[in-house]
Amino acid sequence: MVDAFGRPSTPPAGLRWSAATAAFQIEGARHGDGRGRSIWDDFVDTPGQVVDATTAEPGPASYEHFAEDIALLQGLGVDRYRFSISWVRVQPDGRGKPEPRGIAYYDRLVDGLLEVGITPFPTLYHWDLPATLEADGGWLVRDTAERFAEYTEIVAAALGDRVKHWYTINEPISTALQGYAIGELAPGRQLLFDALPAVHHQLLAHGLATGVLRQHGADAVGIVNNHTWVRPATDSEADQTAAHLYDLIHNRLFADPVLTGNYPDLRPLGVDLPIQDGDMDIIATASDFYGVNFYNPTTIAAAPADAPVPFVQVPTPGVAHTGFGELWPIDPAALTAFLTEAARRYGDRLPPIIIGENGASFPEPDAVDAPIRDSDRVAYLAGHIGAVADAITQGVRIEEYTVWSLLDNFEWADGFTQRFGLVHVDHETSKRTPKRSYDWYRTLIAESRR
Ligand code: BGC
Repeated sequence: MVDAFGRPSTPPAGLRWSAATAAFQIEGARHGDGRGRSIWDDFVDTPGQVVDATTAEPGPASYEHFAEDIALLQGLGVDRYRFSISWVRVQPDGRGKPEPRGIAYYDRLVDGLLEVGITPFPTLYHWDLPATLEADGGWLVRDTAERFAEYTEIVAAALGDRVKHWYTINEPISTALQGYAIGELAPGRQLLFDALPAVHHQLLAHGLATGVLRQHGADAVGIVNNHTWVRPATDSEADQTAAHLYDLIHNRLFADPVLTGNYPDLRPLGVDLPIQDGDMDIIATASDFYGVNFYNPTTIAAAPADAPVPFVQVPTPGVAHTGFGELWPIDPAALTAFLTEAARRYGDRLPPIIIGENGASFPEPDAVDAPIRDSDRVAYLAGHIGAVADAITQGVRIEEYTVWSLLDNFEWADGFTQRFGLVHVDHETSKRTPKRSYDWYRTLIAESRR
């Protein structure tokens, strides 16, 4: 059998399979059970921030419907479920007293997963910083890393007897660059290069949390970064320099410190980070895996001389794109290129890779009465799983592949306009209807175990 990209669709043997979600994107129930406010509550409650003016509710409403999610995961046959824990459910003010009702929700979720043989693999932070901490400076200040370690202690003490696998922080790049530098995501700041302390403090938080989780008997801890494969728009020197700078900011600024204990040389950008003695050792605390979220390659051109940043993203010629438009091109070979280059660049410092997210949105109806035949999503996933298989064949150690997402959910500033799920969700009624891609993934998982 050959997939839409002409690759053999035989799944790589020995890979673990997973599907992912995140708390704010699926839980709903923003008010009640003592939950505090996060920067995302402030963001969605500010008119004009979310394209369709939705507020993440009802959506999948997994706070209420989590048993349905577990049944869907069981039906898929995944080894693991990647979900995230909401800081403000567990510790509403971001410091001090925990909220037992919030912890009880994750207790039920974890127990439900274990009962059906699925390994819970939570992320401690998927973008929902307590609003109280943002008021005190958020990720721009060092204290937030200390607060994160305290929150981690609460979660690990509550769940660490049953949860042994942890992602610390999801995509610090998105928070730092889209959240603090250009303001597309919460907290909506526009600080450009002055946002860089948010990079360092999130990485420090990752390192501090790793120590806490190990003390609580974790078997596997790692960060999950968003990566892309960067190409210059032309071979002009200006475009090549711009592409190099973009690679520095998007990929190496986040991978180098965790994997080598050093930031890349940022002098070409004329910026500095607030590093204190001992920080780099904490950040580079050995990880059990390295999490890679991958969606698309990026083509970069030099920006005009008077632009605030030296690079500009342009469409990638000659390839199709996802529902997000031409800046989300579909090019599975770019994933193989990224993975093999990471293995070459970091060598023995690179622990086994886990693909923490991979998937695509396509225009799909809001309400359905039969499974959607989402062949474009199947082609996307088949192509990227094939790309992972190619990287494995070329010697890259990859242990696990995760689809983003189990469910259609709240796509941040894009509200309910982008659907990534293997399962369609009616965001008015929370009704779940598996798509054709759900059956395809289920079959692929089953075949990989034959
Ligand atoms: C994020 C998800 C998001 C997905 C699709 C990732 O960067 O971790 O929360 O929904 O991309 O945009």
